[in-house]
Amino acid sequence: MKDDTLELPSYLDHTPEVQERIETLQARPVVMSVEALGRDFDANGVRTTALSRVSFEVRKREFISVIGPSGCGKSTLIRILAGLDYPTSGSVRLDGRAVQGPGADRGMVFQAYTLFPWLTVKKNVMFGLKMKGIANGKAEQMATEWLGVVGLSDAADKYPGQLSGGMKQRVAIARALANEPRILLMDEPFGALDAQTRCSMQAHLLRIWEAVDVTVLFITHDLEEAVYLSDRIVVLGANPGRIVEIIDVPVARPRSPAQFLSGHFLATKQRLEELIHGPDVFRRGRAA
Ligand SMILES: Nc1ncnc2c1ncn2[C@@H]1O[C@H](COP(=O)(O)OP(=O)(O)OP(=O)(O)O)[C@@H](O)[C@H]1O
Ligand SMILES: [Mg+2]
Repeated sequence: MKDDTLELPSYLDHTPEVQERIETLQARPVVMSVEALGRDFDANGVRTTALSRVSFEVRKREFISVIGPSGCGKSTLIRILAGLDYPTSGSVRLDGRAVQGPGADRGMVFQAYTLFPWLTVKKNVMFGLKMKGIANGKAEQMATEWLGVVGLSDAADKYPGQLSGGMKQRVAIARALANEPRILLMDEPFGALDAQTRCSMQAHLLRIWEAVDVTVLFITHDLEEAVYLSDRIVVLGANPGRIVEIIDVPVARPRSPAQFLSGHFLATKQRLEELIHGPDVFRRGRAA
């Protein structure tokens, strides 16, 4: 019987257009460099190596994702990059300077909603600006502009409790971007959203990233989301958390949902499945 499995291109094949994007990115300056990062946790006499010798660089205006199975150290990594946790070995540099704590040069968006419920949407976005000493009028003007960028001008005077999950995350993105961070760090920001809202938030984030001069490091365990959004994907393995491969995404930009069924998209997704779930993942069904 004829095998009806799709013949996919190699995820390592790049069209000239994709190759050009990769070369343009490689020529850009490094914004963040992660060097031989390690993090051990000792709890109740048991040592967990959450991260071991993790090294990679993020270039200006790059969209890079980190993917891997649950417990492989993704949140630990992003918390260290944000300066909310510290490494037991190795280092993180932002624009060449060692990261030694949190700072306005890194914007964070988490899965859990983190808006202040007692402040309006606009005041939530103004909060960090006023902390930096920006005068009220100027902070209000900037917040209004950023709410326009995320498509929430009409919600400026609402309270977070009056917003949907997707809208709350758009406010969180506006709040993070208003500080003009060197890098936006996102830890499964769409993980709590339903599938449809998640799709529209992905498209929305891509539009914002195309319009704004910002570098993004995005954590997800959704393979399609990683391929759809990213220039490169850092794949982590578990126990200890370590890099197993870094993939240049061979899908052209601008991205659109129509590409989900393109050969290069499917080949990249298949490679991620193999790396995360093991090489037998595609054979099991056929042997049965
Ligand atoms: N504060 C801590 N104390 C002890 N162990 C910890 C601590 N934080 C994380 N760990 C351990 O480090 C490992 C990595 O955890 P982490 O939360 O970074 O994984 P993750 O990849 O983000 O997982 P998920 O996909 O479920 O969010 C896990 O084994 C976890 O139990
Ligand atoms: Mg996590």
